[in-house]
Amino acid sequence: MINKTGRGTWANRWTFILATTGSAIGLGNIWKLPYMIGVNGGSAFVLIYILSILLVGIPLLMTEVMLGRRMQKNPMDAMRDLAKESNTSPAWRYIGAMGMLTGVLILCFYSVVGGWVLSYVSQAAQSSFTNITGTESSSHFDALLASPLTLLFWHTIFIMITMTIVARGVTAGLEKANNFLIPSLFAILLVLLGYSMSVGDMAASATFMFTPDFSKITATAALNALGHAFFSLSIGMGSIMVYGSYLQRDASIARTSIYIAIADSLLGLFAGLAIYALVFANQLEPGAGPGLIFQTLPIAFGHMPWGNFFGTLFFILVAFAAATSAMSLVEPTIAWVVENTKVSRKLAATGLGLLIWVVGVAVLLSFNIWQDVKVAFGLGIFDTLDKLTSTIMLPLGGLLMAIFAGHFMQKQYSQQELNLKKSSYQLWRLANSFIAPIAIIAVFILLLTS
Ligand code: TRP
Repeated sequence: MINKTGRGTWANRWTFILATTGSAIGLGNIWKLPYMIGVNGGSAFVLIYILSILLVGIPLLMTEVMLGRRMQKNPMDAMRDLAKESNTSPAWRYIGAMGMLTGVLILCFYSVVGGWVLSYVSQAAQSSFTNITGTESSSHFDALLASPLTLLFWHTIFIMITMTIVARGVTAGLEKANNFLIPSLFAILLVLLGYSMSVGDMAASATFMFTPDFSKITATAALNALGHAFFSLSIGMGSIMVYGSYLQRDASIARTSIYIAIADSLLGLFAGLAIYALVFANQLEPGAGPGLIFQTLPIAFGHMPWGNFFGTLFFILVAFAAATSAMSLVEPTIAWVVENTKVSRKLAATGLGLLIWVVGVAVLLSFNIWQDVKVAFGLGIFDTLDKLTSTIMLPLGGLLMAIFAGHFMQKQYSQQELNLKKSSYQLWRLANSFIAPIAIIAVFILLLTS
C-alpha cells in the first residue's frame, strides 16, 4: 500500500511480521549459524548465542521497531527527529549513517554467498549430487570457489534479483512473496531434519550443540556469538528500523518481536542439528568454515529419495530467503536517498546495486586469484568484511541504539510507542539501559584484553 506521502506501508500487521521475519531469516540461519557453531567449539557458542538473543536481541529488536515506527522515516532522519523530540543532540543521527554503511558492506559478501546458493540450485536441478560422497562433495565446492567466472555469474544474478525487487518498493515487492516463502522453508527444513534423523548421527549432533562445555567459552567465541545474534535478527543497522517505519500504529511491538526471534532462532538451530547429524555420520570436519552446508547438504540430497527434487527446492527457498534479507540490508540507504533527494527509487537501487556488485567482485576474487591478499588483522577481503560488520559495527550500532532508547529518549515517548504493561516496560527499559550495554561492552573488553 502506498499512502498519501508516497511512502509504502504494510497492508497489515501480519505482513510486517512476515517481512521482518523474512529479513531475519536468511543465510545467517542456514549458512552462517551452522558453520559458526562448528568453528567456535559447538555448544559453548550455542549457549552464548541463545543468551544473547534473549538478553540483548529481543529487547533491541523491540527498540528498533519502536524507533522506526515513531517517526515513519528512514533511520538517519528518524534518529535526528527522535533526538530532537527528546531535546538531545542531533548527532544521534549518525547511528543511521553508520547503519547504512554497515548494511551495504554486509551485502557485498552476502551477495557472493547468495550466488553460491544459486549455483547450487542449478547443480541440484541437474542432478549433480546423485550418490555423491563426502570427498566428492567437498571438491565440488572447492571447484566452485576456484572459478571466478562462475562466481561472478551467480553473484551478478543474485544482485539483479535483489535490486529488481528493491526498485519496485519493499512493501509492494515483498507482501506476496513472504506469505509462502517462510512456511515453505520451515516445511522443507523439517523434511531435511527428518532425513538427517533417520540416516545421520542425531545424538552426536545434539550433544555437540547442546551439552555445555564451559572450557570452550573463549572471548572470540563470545564475541562471535553476540555478533551473530545481531546478524541473525537483522538488528544493529536500521533494517528493522526502516521496516518498523512502514508499520501502522496499532501493532504490539513486544509480541511481534518475540515471535520473530523465536522463528529465527528455531530455524537456525534446526538447520544446525540437521547439518551436524550429517557431518558426524559422514566423518566430515565440524570446523569446515563457510563451505560447511555446501559440503554436507549435497550428501543428504544425493542419497535421499526424491533428493534432486528436495535439493533443488531447498536451495531455491534458501535463495529466496537470502534475497528477502538482502533487500532489508539496502532499504535504509534507499529510503534515505528517496526521502532526501530527487533521485528515484529505481535509480537509487541501480546505483547502489552497481557499487555492491563491484565490491562483491573483490570479495569473490578473495576465494581464488586474490586468496593471499590481506586487508586488516591478517584477514582476507571476505573475512575482513564479515568480521568488521558482524563483530564490530552491528554490536556498536546496537549499543548506541540501546543507550539512546534507555537513557536519552524521554520515557513518555517510548512508553507511548511500546504500549506495555508497567512491569514489562520496566523490563524492556532495564534491558536497554543496562543489560544490553553492559553485555556488549563486556564482550568488547574481553576481546581487547584476551
Ligand atoms: N538476518 C539476515 C540473515 O540472517 C541478514 C540480514 C538482513 C542482516 N538484514 C540485516 C544482518 C541487518 C545484520 C543487519 O541472513
